[in-house]
Amino acid sequence: MAGDSKPEVVESAGVGAAAARPSFGSRVGTHFKRWWWVYLIVLIVVVLVVVLPVVYVAYPKMAQTLVNNSNLTVTMMDISDPSPSSFTLNQTQVIGTNSSYHPTMYSFSGAVSLAGLAAFAHVQIPKFNAHNGVVVEVDQRVNLTNVTAFADFCRAAIMSEEFQLNVYGRQGLKEDSLPKTTVTYNHTATMKGFNKLDGFDLLDMSIGTNNSDGTNAKGTVYIPNPSVISIALGNLTLNLSVNNTAIGQAYIYDLTLRPGNNTVTMTANVSELTVAGMLSDYPNYILPIDITGNSTVYDNQVIPYIAGALADLELRTSLNVTKALGG
Ligand SMILES: *[C@@H]1O[C@H](CO)[C@@H](O)[C@H](O)[C@H]1NC(C)=O
Ligand SMILES: *[C@@H]1O[C@H](CO)[C@@H](O)[C@H](O)[C@H]1NC(C)=O
Ligand SMILES: *[C@@H]1O[C@H](CO)[C@@H](O)[C@H](O)[C@H]1NC(C)=O
Ligand SMILES: *[C@@H]1O[C@H](CO)[C@@H](O)[C@H](O)[C@H]1NC(C)=O
Ligand SMILES: *[C@@H]1O[C@H](CO)[C@@H](O)[C@H](O)[C@H]1NC(C)=O
Ligand SMILES: *[C@@H]1O[C@H](CO)[C@@H](O)[C@H](O)[C@H]1NC(C)=O
Ligand SMILES: *[C@@H]1O[C@H](CO)[C@@H](O)[C@H](O)[C@H]1NC(C)=O
Ligand SMILES: *[C@@H]1O[C@H](CO)[C@@H](O)[C@H](O)[C@H]1NC(C)=O
Ligand SMILES: *[C@@H]1O[C@H](CO)[C@@H](O)[C@H](O)[C@H]1NC(C)=O
Ligand SMILES: *[C@@H]1O[C@H](CO)[C@@H](O)[C@H](O)[C@H]1NC(C)=O
Ligand SMILES: *[C@@H]1O[C@H](CO)[C@@H](O)[C@H](O)[C@H]1NC(C)=O
Ligand SMILES: *[C@@H]1O[C@H](CO)[C@@H](O)[C@H](O)[C@H]1NC(C)=O
Repeated sequence: MAGDSKPEVVESAGVGAAAARPSFGSRVGTHFKRWWWVYLIVLIVVVLVVVLPVVYVAYPKMAQTLVNNSNLTVTMMDISDPSPSSFTLNQTQVIGTNSSYHPTMYSFSGAVSLAGLAAFAHVQIPKFNAHNGVVVEVDQRVNLTNVTAFADFCRAAIMSEEFQLNVYGRQGLKEDSLPKTTVTYNHTATMKGFNKLDGFDLLDMSIGTNNSDGTNAKGTVYIPNPSVISIALGNLTLNLSVNNTAIGQAYIYDLTLRPGNNTVTMTANVSELTVAGMLSDYPNYILPIDITGNSTVYDNQVIPYIAGALADLELRTSLNVTKALGG
């Protein structure tokens, strides 16, 4: 039985192959005609399994890594036309990246803060193409969202040698034909501050002049600004004192501190009586003058965030009274 059946199977297989079996190509064709939908499903699954993670997992991660590995350098910051709740910002920044991808970065609203503290405003960062050295310019009116936080920023800018400016936002990114994805933009730029106006000097001063604003003294002050920040301080009033005794106030009109050396004129009201009374304590008639910020007014409005920063400022200069009196 076993011997009979074996050749029969072989024979039937041989007959089928020789006589009834169609060509390889048509067999494949028939197979596909019958099973095409299985292949289609498998293809779709493979495409989804391979492409979806690439597009929706790897690509966003790569995009985020690209943004994480970029850096931010502020090359110019101009704060002008301040009001108690807003100011005009004209700022230039350079994006550094070593990636070979140059995706389009969409415009987004960036929260601006001193790194680690509450944001003081939102700034609309324009669309740009991410390549190394791209210059991004911002020029807009900015509403303050937290005046206290902006006062802290102004204090840091005026008082410190360096401070950290953070920009945070969710930004759209698109690389070639890939879909748009959203990344977190969180970058901190280290900026130079005014460093307490270190180097401030009273270049000259004359007492006993009749000035148009009704004051009795005038002079020239030198204010160096090592930062890239330009800030409009408006009409500034400063307190003058000697050894904790007030001798008067100084006024600087329409002051804008620009990067570099600022040489500006001032007027002052100096109590000649008070000064005369203390001269005996200073043998050379050289008075050590302490200068602190009193207030600042811009377009008839007191600007509290700038005044707050200036109140912390303590400048020391010396006044040769003999020279100031024209001696
Ligand atoms: C990007 O940086 C943030 C921290 O700033 C980190 O939490 C995140 O994991 C980083 N993402 C990638 C993809 O490197
Ligand atoms: C450049 O690439 C390296 C890794 O390849 C990374 O550590 C670095 O943060 C990147 N970014 C910049 C701005 O140099
Ligand atoms: C902003 O700053 C740039 C560069 O200093 C200057 O060219 C431009 O005129 C400024 N814009 C305004 C509105 O002041
Ligand atoms: C920013 O990144 C660029 C490109 O990688 C690099 O040349 C530059 O030194 C970086 N600047 C800072 C301040 O890290
Ligand atoms: C700022 O606030 C004023 C009203 O307080 C509003 O009219 C103006 O559109 C705001 N500007 C921006 C840039 O949000
Ligand atoms: C405003 O800023 C101050 C100082 O940084 C902070 O203490 C306060 O929580 C902030 N307020 C809001 C509403 O974020
Ligand atoms: C931005 O990144 C810093 C660390 O690089 C982190 O401490 C901070 O919490 C981040 N900001 C936000 C809003 O997540
Ligand atoms: C400064 O004032 C203190 C008292 O407040 C006085 O003892 C001291 O002699 C004064 N110094 C000068 C140089 O006048
Ligand atoms: C600013 O003045 C200092 C001397 O006080 C001088 O060394 C420096 O070159 C000046 N800088 C500019 C930009 O004029
Ligand atoms: C500003 O000057 C006025 C006098 O003109 C004085 O009463 C006031 O206390 C001063 N304020 C500050 C913060 O120095
Ligand atoms: C400063 O005061 C003068 C005279 O009072 C005025 O003409 C000018 O507009 C004021 N400047 C600002 C920025 O408010
Ligand atoms: C003060 O000024 C007078 C007059 O200009 C001058 O003779 C004197 O040398 C000056 N004193 C000092 C310490 O510079």
